[in-house]
Amino acid sequence: MSTDTRISDAVSQTRLWDRHVVMGSIGATARGGVNRLALSAADAAAQAELAGWAAARGFRCVRDEIGNLFVRREGMDRDAAPVLMGSHLDSQPTGGRFDGTYGVLAGFEVLEALADSGMHTRRPVEVVAWTNEEGSRFQPGCMGSAAFTGVFPLDRMLGMQDRDGVSVSTALAELTKASPVEFRSMQSVKPAAYLEAHIEQGPRLEAAGATIGVVTGIQGIRRLIVTVRGEEAHAGTTPRAARRDAVSAAVAVISALESMCNDAEDAIRFTVGRMEVTPNSPNTVPSKVEFSIDLRHPDAALLARLGDSIAETVQATASGRRCAAEVKHVSHVPPTVFSDTTVGLIRTATEALQYRYLEMPSGAGHDAMYLNRVCPTGMIFVPCLRGVSHNEAESATAEDLAAGARVLAQTLVALAGS
Ligand code: HGY
Ligand code: MN
Ligand code: MN
Repeated sequence: MSTDTRISDAVSQTRLWDRHVVMGSIGATARGGVNRLALSAADAAAQAELAGWAAARGFRCVRDEIGNLFVRREGMDRDAAPVLMGSHLDSQPTGGRFDGTYGVLAGFEVLEALADSGMHTRRPVEVVAWTNEEGSRFQPGCMGSAAFTGVFPLDRMLGMQDRDGVSVSTALAELTKASPVEFRSMQSVKPAAYLEAHIEQGPRLEAAGATIGVVTGIQGIRRLIVTVRGEEAHAGTTPRAARRDAVSAAVAVISALESMCNDAEDAIRFTVGRMEVTPNSPNTVPSKVEFSIDLRHPDAALLARLGDSIAETVQATASGRRCAAEVKHVSHVPPTVFSDTTVGLIRTATEALQYRYLEMPSGAGHDAMYLNRVCPTGMIFVPCLRGVSHNEAESATAEDLAAGARVLAQTLVALAGS
């Protein structure tokens, strides 16, 4: 039986690429990337751009309590639970033009293809830009989707502060002023399903010569903060034996943790991405170091065991350097397994469109981790150049972006009914 491909035939590669060019100019960096930290002026400008495109197409645009932005196209059954598609518009400080942005723009392209083809879905369809997926300015990451799904309490998220002491709610008030949009409470929408298109952010699809990744799940992620405390002293007069040097203790702690995570299979992902030294003066022995740990693995039990053993290694190593240390557990998201229903529909759409594909887990975290707890969820990957991401050199081709949007479109119609 041949597949009805009217919706994917209506996907425009040029229009999708052109929207990436415009979005990539918002928060653009000199080296070809974007710096659109969550709830920043650049994030507000990106939301305003999307809201403007939505208004021009007659789609309703709403924002919820934590700044998640939704663009809605009505279904024949207006009261039916909507199918959501989306990702995020916020970026890393030296981020790429496709991470997150692609999932929002691919979803918007599907709405436009529906409108252009005159197709009507039974269910309403919404594109969402989740607030603060990256977790760079405010922790934890995936804040908007975690609040929307009830995993993190809204009021605690609104009170989280960035390193300048600005709270999410203060930053959100500024964003709302800069880009006013109708309010809709997150309590009023329960999605029927969620789809997220995203660049792979890794090398596997490109190496395999595949166009589509049918994503089976997402590896588990734990985030911790370690604080090592010593004592300030004069760099010139203090003998080694009398020093309680927090940096030299932190270096020993990090190398001990790296040895602990140095698995032969190279499956454990251990990253120290942020480090702050106090007083951070060249000629004072440092009294305090605070650093982040991002720990990931596809096996739930191994991730739990490894994460739980960090504190013991940290304290033993620090005390061996006459320093104290404490470990704060920020978040722990166990591995995600997507439902056979959505994975099957994405595979069927990909085969119907005759794209070469891989079935694969995601190494990167996504808002889909949380949506998967409340509705059938699936992800569609497309390749990115050399698998590079969280880097201004991030790149993808117009052809691959359009291919992913076509698979998204076919899968959406299968879920929303037409
Ligand atoms: O960190 C992550 O995996 C996501 O790209 N923010
Ligand atoms: Mn992302
Ligand atoms: Mn990212």
